[in-house]
Amino acid sequence: MTATTLTLPTSRGDPDPIGLRTRVPVAPTLSMFDPLYIGIDEFGEPVYLDIIFHNLLPGGEPGAGKSGLLQNVASHAALSVNTRLVLFDGKLVELGPYMDVADEFVGPNLEHALSVMRRLLALATNRYLWLLSKRPSRRKVTRDDGLSTIVTIIDELAMFSTVLGSKAQQDEFATLLRGLVSLGRACGMPVVAATQRPSWDIIPASLRDLFGYRCAFRCTTPSSSDIVLGHGWAELGYSASDINPATRGVAYLLAEGGVPRRIKTAWLSDEQIDAIVDYATWIRRPNPTAGSRSLTYQIAA
Ligand SMILES: Nc1ncnc2c1ncn2[C@@H]1O[C@H](COP(=O)(O)OP(=O)(O)OP(=O)(O)O)[C@@H](O)[C@H]1O
Ligand SMILES: [Mg+2]
Repeated sequence: MTATTLTLPTSRGDPDPIGLRTRVPVAPTLSMFDPLYIGIDEFGEPVYLDIIFHNLLPGGEPGAGKSGLLQNVASHAALSVNTRLVLFDGKLVELGPYMDVADEFVGPNLEHALSVMRRLLALATNRYLWLLSKRPSRRKVTRDDGLSTIVTIIDELAMFSTVLGSKAQQDEFATLLRGLVSLGRACGMPVVAATQRPSWDIIPASLRDLFGYRCAFRCTTPSSSDIVLGHGWAELGYSASDINPATRGVAYLLAEGGVPRRIKTAWLSDEQIDAIVDYATWIRRPNPTAGSRSLTYQIAA
């Protein structure tokens, strides 16, 4: 987030005795095509992700800092123009604060999760048909296409693929997710999916390899770290089991084709998240003075 701040009226009119709620980052032209700030590396340098064309897989033990990273992504997306959020949170409270700015918020309901996933896949297919119709034909969307970016964020993947619903529904969810992760990337529909159980049944290698960014927060064993980062990294000295359990938010980040980099994610307090959502909801409000243009903007998928 940029350091610039602006004092704004709050749309909910809550009292704000210490000024936290009214001091929010100003990002009127932020886009998902811009670098997405997630924290610093071990040299104190800022770390940015290019989420628009990469899926992100954060994994690690409970309390390691996965949801904190997801909240950085959700906040950037909430403040970005022409960007829609689709949120899955079986626990409700991690992504729940973003409910007001999301097109869809899926709680612990697998029926709902499946219907949203099916819609996302149908949309991805439509976008590819649209790309195919272009001359010269194209393989991915660009900033100039004007298509909205649809960011799907799933907090605790295992809830949907192993806990809720029947086995058949869980299998369908896993299949649809695999489809979205492989199709969404190039058509402006990236996926961010976190899990606190890095094991082969939750993240088989074939699914893991579809994530261009993998982020291993503290793991209990070198092999669970390898499940997130990829086979062999622990042996080369990059194991998230070495991360001190007391340093929450520290992780190894692997970007496509690179070497894992030790990072510390930025942390947003509940008050800051509330302020960001409050502001994002306000800048996203339907604008009655814009007439049909605002309507067109809202229905353009
Ligand atoms: N980058 C960070 N800087 C400082 N503290 C952090 C950071 N990330 C996480 N924490 C601390 O660790 C706690 C747990 O973080 P978080 O909820 O993100 O973990 P998690 O991996 O999502 O856990 P779970 O698997 O239980 O959902 C936070 O409440 C916060 O106190
Ligand atoms: Mg969490």
